[in-house]
Amino acid sequence: MAAETSPKTLAIDIGGSGLKCLVLNPAGEAITERLRRQTPSVPTPSAVMAELLAMAAEQGEFDRISVGFPGVVKEGEVRTAVNLHPDWVGFHLQNALSEALDKPTRVANDADVQGLGAIEGRGVELVLTLGTGIGSALFMDGHLVPNLELGHHPFQKDKTYEERLGDEALEKKGREGWNRRLRDAIQLLDYIFNYRMLYLGGGNAKKIDFELPANVRKVANIQGLLGGIALWRQ
Ligand code: BGC
Repeated sequence: MAAETSPKTLAIDIGGSGLKCLVLNPAGEAITERLRRQTPSVPTPSAVMAELLAMAAEQGEFDRISVGFPGVVKEGEVRTAVNLHPDWVGFHLQNALSEALDKPTRVANDADVQGLGAIEGRGVELVLTLGTGIGSALFMDGHLVPNLELGHHPFQKDKTYEERLGDEALEKKGREGWNRRLRDAIQLLDYIFNYRMLYLGGGNAKKIDFELPANVRKVANIQGLLGGIALWRQ
């Protein structure tokens, strides 16, 4: 029997430095090249929306849309967007995209989407994304606890995980110091969550230089897009 070709899902990942998208077949495999554009320098909802619509137009046909957004999202509405722009708070991204592109749309936190694409669905699984910000997602037997915001919790005295491990910290502290901090963070998170597996994603996961413990795994950044299919299984 021929593989199903529809519905096709346009998967979008909105990041602090890049906007990415591709189209997935029903099996969750990419059927277009990943397209990446710089996030607009003043990333207001209207600037980002304009870029996303232009990108979507280059992706050919699709039937529905999945979006990973770098902040808290409740029922399609953005509640926080610390690495984008304050105008996002209260913006109903799900309705806006669905209306603009005339396709059913689901929007969730970016780390949640990345996690949905990476987990095995057994026991406690934690996901940490290392990028402009620090994203986190927690799962129990494959069930998501949405919008876990570990990144903004304290880590090492007066700073947060994001302030110690985000892009800015990596630049300021240098790769070696950043790696040392990450190693400490992993140990602490293991004590707190007692996860069966921790997944490390995001653009900076490739900068990890130390050997990871047996219950920690790197995931390819593309999972942030591939996880988009799972939003339609939820
Ligand atoms: C946001 C999270 C997001 C993470 C990665 C943080 O600043 O608060 O919601 O998942 O950045 O983009």
